[in-house]
Parts: sequence; C-alpha cells; structure tokens
Amino acid sequence: MTPHPILPPFPKSIEKWWWNQACLKWPDYSEDKLLNAIRREIVEQSDRFNKTRSFDSNSYGSRDLSILSYGNFFFPRTWQAMSFALSEAYFLRNWKAPRKGPLRILDLGSGSGASGLASLFQLRQWSVKNPISLEAWDYSGKSLATMKNLHRSCMDLWPDSKVFTTRKDLTNDLPPPNKRKFDLILLGFSLNEILQESESGSRIEWMKKVLHHLKPGGFVLIMDPASVDSCTRLQEDSFILKQEDARINLHAPYFNGLPCPFFIQKSKYYSHEVRRITPTQTVQRINSPLHLETREVKFGFTMLSKADVVTLPGGSEHCRLVSPVRKRKGTISFIGIGSDGEEYRYELQRRDIKKEETKGVLLLQRGDVLQINGGVAGKEERQIRLPSPQSISLLFTPRIEVG
Ligand SMILES: C[S@@+](CC[C@H](N)C(=O)[O-])C[C@H]1O[C@@H](n2cnc3c(N)ncnc32)[C@H](O)[C@@H]1O
Repeated sequence: MTPHPILPPFPKSIEKWWWNQACLKWPDYSEDKLLNAIRREIVEQSDRFNKTRSFDSNSYGSRDLSILSYGNFFFPRTWQAMSFALSEAYFLRNWKAPRKGPLRILDLGSGSGASGLASLFQLRQWSVKNPISLEAWDYSGKSLATMKNLHRSCMDLWPDSKVFTTRKDLTNDLPPPNKRKFDLILLGFSLNEILQESESGSRIEWMKKVLHHLKPGGFVLIMDPASVDSCTRLQEDSFILKQEDARINLHAPYFNGLPCPFFIQKSKYYSHEVRRITPTQTVQRINSPLHLETREVKFGFTMLSKADVVTLPGGSEHCRLVSPVRKRKGTISFIGIGSDGEEYRYELQRRDIKKEETKGVLLLQRGDVLQINGGVAGKEERQIRLPSPQSISLLFTPRIEVG
C-alpha cells in the first residue's frame, strides 16, 4: 500500500525565520529564558484553544510574545493541517486552478498566515503556474504585518505571489463581494472564533456571505478544532446551508454531496480527521518539558463549492475512515462512511494476514479515503468482511514526507 499524496515537510527556512524573530525581539535573553517565556505563553494559548475558548482581538494577536509563540509552536501545525485539506481539494475533489490569469485566495482569520502561506507553498509544489494573489483578513494588525514580513522573507517558497492584508473584525463586517472573486477561500481554525457568540441562523447567513465571494468553480475549505461540539456544528451548518441553497455542494468530508451522518443518527464517532504530522525541532525543544501532543493534528473539516461534486459509485465500496484502526484478538477493523453516506464496519480476519500487511493496515489514518474491492456483507447490519488487505486500495491517503 503506497500512500498518496506525499506532502513536503514544513520548510526549515520558515522554522528558522520564526526562531530568528524571537531572538531578535529579545536579544538579551539566554536561549533558556526565551524558551521558558514561550512555554508559559504556549500553555496559556493551549488552555484558551482547548478549555476556556474565549477570544477577542487581544487574545493572542496584539502581543509580540503571543504572535512569536504561536509562530514557533502552532504555526507549523495549522500549516500541515491546511496542507492536508488543500491536497484533498486538489487530488481528490477536482478543484482546479484557473486556466489562465491569476489565482485568487482569500484567507479569513488568517493570523500570521499559516493557512494561506501553506497554500501558496503547496500549489507551487504541485506546479500550479498562475500568478497568485493571497488576500488575508484578520482583526490583528500585528499578525497581518508578521505575515507580510514572512512572505517577503521567504519569497523562494512562493514565487510570483502577492499578499494583501486587511485589518477587519469579521464577526459583523463581512464586506459585499466585488467583481474579483476567489478560487479558494480558507478558514483555518478561525470560524469558531469569529462566530463564537453566534446562533445557528446567523452563522448560516455569515457563511452564505462568504460563499458570495467565491468564483463558480471556487472552493471554501473550513477547518475547526476537533471537539465534538465544534465538529458537529460545522457539519450541521454545512448541511443546512446546502438545504437552503441548492447550488451549494458538500464536497467533503464525505461523498456525492451527502452530509455527515453523525448529527442525524447517533454513533460512537463524529466527523474529524486525525493526521500524523512531524513536529519541527523548535517545537520539540519548546515541548520537551510540556509534553503536549505534537505528533498529530486533529480537526473538523468541510469543503463547499458550487462546482459539481466528484461522484463515487456504490455504497460500501468506497469509504472515509472515521475511527482508529483496531487490532483485536481475531480481527482488524475500522469504521468508514461509504459513498452512500452510511456507516460501515470493515473487518479483516487476522489469521489471513501476514505481519507486514497488518502493519500496513494499522498505518491507515482517520480521514483516509479507501476503495474496497470484493468486500462481503457480514452477519451484522452494515458489517463488511474483507477477504485480504489487498481488498483495500488507497484513493486519498496524504502523508507528510519526513524531513
Ligand atoms: C487560531 S487562529 C488561526 C490563524 C490562522 N488561520 C492559522 O491557520 O494559523 C484564529 C485567527 O482568527 C482571528 N480572528 C478571531 N476572531 C476574529 C474576528 N472577529 N475578526 C477577524 N479575525 C478574527 C484571530 O486574530 C486569529 O488570527
């Protein structure tokens, strides 16, 4: 089983740039003192993201220490997460750059640019040749200035691209679209903050306004934290949006425009990705006494567009993994959502599998898209027995190359 696509590691030059910025800011600090200051800030930010979840423009976008701590620690993580999401649009969902002319990207709640700049970088890696203009909107002027600075400093990573920044509180003030619409609109871990106080109705209206900024073939990629609440809200809002405007299609996480089944019927699982990432050396140094999870990124994810969805035939013959792969005494199993939007339990008998093959199956990740050949209905409802690991073909299994 050879995974595809393989994405490049987080660029070392950006890692160095962020660390340099921190050293330049506090030239009198010893390395230990600087690391400790960043660690204290990371613990605070981590609590804010995972526990208190209360944000305003001073939360982490107005102080140098917050921006530099985010950059050195969280930035590579959201960069890699957005790289996974964009690679799905590109390799699986048939998003295409315009045939000619500039490619336009809008990054909403861009912060210092992890999502937008990751997109510039990946598109160039995939040999997308158009000139690219990236518009970044955020209410933190300092973050936007940092993004421009980083873009300018590492131009070799994204040749022929321009960044335009606008300082804006997006909660109430989403401007009407002008003639120049976007090929990609990115919301990397920002939607939940921008709409933190909003009720369902106003969230849907807000998302409709975002979609007005999209070209007919353009895609909106939304990633949010992986809590049950925010993932369920994201999937439910996307579904209602589609119900209220039939032109909008749900391209991901599932298939054939079908919604997430988990907010309709109860399940042990909920829609989110769990992907392995490679922590940078700086992240590892910061993290050594903190012991935070740095080797995987979890996120809720949805992809919307007015373009037609890619159709995948069948029911259980294609699936997206929504559970860990479990190795039990006699079986290896996982849960997937099929191309008919139903939940299936796939099962392999271990006695039929060689050790090496078992390893391969255990390396599958939540979010992987598989084609299942020759599965046979089991005794239980929606249980599919696989004759061998060769029944599994990998359709979309993005992995980060080890740097
Ligand atoms: C978790 S950060 C994500 C930043 C970036 N998208 C990334 O991928 O790393 C959330 C961003 O949303 C911005 N934000 C939150 N609420 C906002 C609002 N009401 N208006 C504009 N930006 C907002 C914050 O300033 C912050 O930069």
